[in-house]
Amino acid sequence: MSILSGKHILLGVTGSIAGYKAADLASKLAQAGAQVDVILTNAGEKFVTPLTFQSVTGRRACTDADLWGNEAHVLHVGFGKTADLLLIAPCTADTIAKLAHGLADNLLTVTALAATCPLVIAPAMDGGMFDHPATQENLAKLKERGAVIIGPVSGHLASGLSGVGRMIEPAEIIGHVRVVLGRNGKLAGKKVVVTAGGTQEALDPVRVITNHSSGKQGYALAQVALDSGADVCLISAPTALTPPVGARFVNVVSAEDMLNAVMAESADVLIMAAAVADFTPKVKAKDKMKKRDGIPQVELTAAADILGTVGGQTRRPERVEGLCAKRFHVVVGFAAESQHLLENASEKLKSKKLDLIVANDISAKDAGFAVETNRVTLLFANGKKESLPLMSKTDAAEKIIEHISTLLE
Ligand code: CTP
Repeated sequence: MSILSGKHILLGVTGSIAGYKAADLASKLAQAGAQVDVILTNAGEKFVTPLTFQSVTGRRACTDADLWGNEAHVLHVGFGKTADLLLIAPCTADTIAKLAHGLADNLLTVTALAATCPLVIAPAMDGGMFDHPATQENLAKLKERGAVIIGPVSGHLASGLSGVGRMIEPAEIIGHVRVVLGRNGKLAGKKVVVTAGGTQEALDPVRVITNHSSGKQGYALAQVALDSGADVCLISAPTALTPPVGARFVNVVSAEDMLNAVMAESADVLIMAAAVADFTPKVKAKDKMKKRDGIPQVELTAAADILGTVGGQTRRPERVEGLCAKRFHVVVGFAAESQHLLENASEKLKSKKLDLIVANDISAKDAGFAVETNRVTLLFANGKKESLPLMSKTDAAEKIIEHISTLLE
């Protein structure tokens, strides 16, 4: 279940052309399971109609007419009491100024005063208005009071000019909303390092040896760790995926790069979801290998064994001087096997000195590399075993993170 599922989100929409993107934002939030109540200002209503929002959220969208309607005396108080988060996107310079000064002259600003939930603001305006000292002072004041300001970003503006003032994109706004909703989660205050993707070992400047890993399971783990409030570092080999908002992202290519990136971290948890190369070309050709020179004889050598290094060095810090600071308290590995799944996984659990290994059978069509689903068995260092049914990689990540938080206790 996504962190957005069942959350009551108030979406304030003010007078900016970026309001058309707010419809997509409302739709995405609703599709993720959130109850989205939209409040439009008079100017917001001029750009997008309440009907648009009602159609995508399945709930009534409110306007200033509701401020003077039958429920006038309770509507804003009710919203303020039940909301998990107030998101204003797009937020104009005018609404920012009103919020900073505590003005309450429309349904949105009166609700903002009544609300005790976190406030997230995505400003949208022309570059000059954003740069104006009044706007900057107002934003600083709101930040000081705990509001989360996301964006604006640089790009083409409605005025035809280019500059900082564009609202950040809905998908990214949702990433920030997730971080705010998750900040008191079960991994709050914990640091989690996740590796993902298939490493690439260069043969020459053009060709690589790699594998079919898509990175999906690792990225899902990073997202769920963020949703649980963790400080997340995602170390990723090349993938087609967008890193989750809020994660510190470290881009790597080869097994050796990944080893160096992992060993530069210290954390409560290390999750090695990456498919790391076991073999690497002994010699990497400096120039492109040419066909005219004949079929190359490539000699392979062992690639860096990351878990082997982590397990062999940091788990016994008293015996290895200087490595105490690089300790990982809980180490989780993955075993992608095409035969003898549990025997091989349990052997890796012991030899790599893991707390937990996630075993998946890559010979199944609906599990493992590249697909959206996984069917995994969790093997624990204490001998416990849990077989999970076929589920989405996000659901599998939620189960794994749940167990990791128990291991940390
Ligand atoms: N792993 C690693 N360094 C490597 C290879 C793998 O740290 N060079 C990690 C993976 O990220 C995974 C676990 O070790 O968490 C098991 O990886 P897997 O490829 O299944 O096992 P190997 O130890 O490489 O053994 P084999 O390929 O022979 O099955």
